[in-house]
Amino acid sequence: MGHNLLKGKRGIIFGALNDKSIAWKVAEKAVEEGAVITLSNTAMALRMGELNGLSEKLNAKIVPADATNVEELEDVFKQSMEILGGKIDFVLHSIGMSPNVRKGRAYDDLDYRNLDKTLDISAISFHKMMQAAKKLDAVAEGGSILALTHIAAQRTFTGYNDMADAKALLESIARSFGYVYGRDKKVRVNTISQSPTLTTAGQGIGGMNAFFDFAEKMSPLGNANAEECADYCVAMFSDLTRMVTMQNLFHDGGFSNMGLTQAVVEDYIEKK
Ligand SMILES: NC(=O)c1ccc[n+]([C@@H]2O[C@H](COP(=O)([O-])OP(=O)(O)OC[C@H]3O[C@@H](n4cnc5c(N)ncnc54)[C@H](O)[C@@H]3O)[C@@H](O)[C@H]2O)c1
Repeated sequence: MGHNLLKGKRGIIFGALNDKSIAWKVAEKAVEEGAVITLSNTAMALRMGELNGLSEKLNAKIVPADATNVEELEDVFKQSMEILGGKIDFVLHSIGMSPNVRKGRAYDDLDYRNLDKTLDISAISFHKMMQAAKKLDAVAEGGSILALTHIAAQRTFTGYNDMADAKALLESIARSFGYVYGRDKKVRVNTISQSPTLTTAGQGIGGMNAFFDFAEKMSPLGNANAEECADYCVAMFSDLTRMVTMQNLFHDGGFSNMGLTQAVVEDYIEKK
């Protein structure tokens, strides 16, 4: 049951692919909390068919867009304002993809055209999204914009490959745009750094199952799941967090501040 934390708010959720997606859970929770929303994803994701079910369930229209295409992003904001009847109060960027990871290219054997795509899809799209929204004056004062990131932006994790560089850029864009958008329009911009989560994108990362298990043992609260991440997103969209901006917020059960837990020591001794 919701608490009406987003009552009267209008939002756009980018990146729901299937019911494992973090964005899927955020869309469900946002509506449960009283918001009206639109959904956006690529034409290819739409062809996979699952998003229609969510759209019907939440009474949320889908506006397709490739997040690397500025005109299509502008269209998402224009159409969403029309459909929802006013300026947008919150936006979720839940988009990530690395062709190098997909094709199994090692970090010291990257294909640079693929690297361009990784950075464009996973990071620069966040800049494009905000620049399009700001030029259209599409986000209401006090609005909240979030992107999802990972601690590989700060520390090196085997298998994360060029997505680590994309996440570092994504977090930097959140700070730089957060300043400009806050100064000019009182809109806030933050990133949430989420635990490893067993989604389609998550499972593309090399060694994901081992990392998931390790992070679970290395976090005093255990890994945060997609639904818990959605709760945090709702809190960040709500007015209760209205003075939070330009932050990278860890949502990881404590993982980011741990050095070594007893659970990992015991696991290591057992396996020796
Ligand atoms: N799963 C994890 O372990 C984890 C951990 C931390 C952060 N994240 C981040 O969470 C976000 C959501 O990922 P997820 O784990 O829910 O996986 P997911 O596969 O469900 O979502 C990724 C989404 O990106 C979309 N996408 C890809 N290319 C696109 C493009 N050109 N334009 C528009 N959309 C595009 C996909 O269609 C998909 O909906 C990503 O930014 C991811 O890096 C995931």
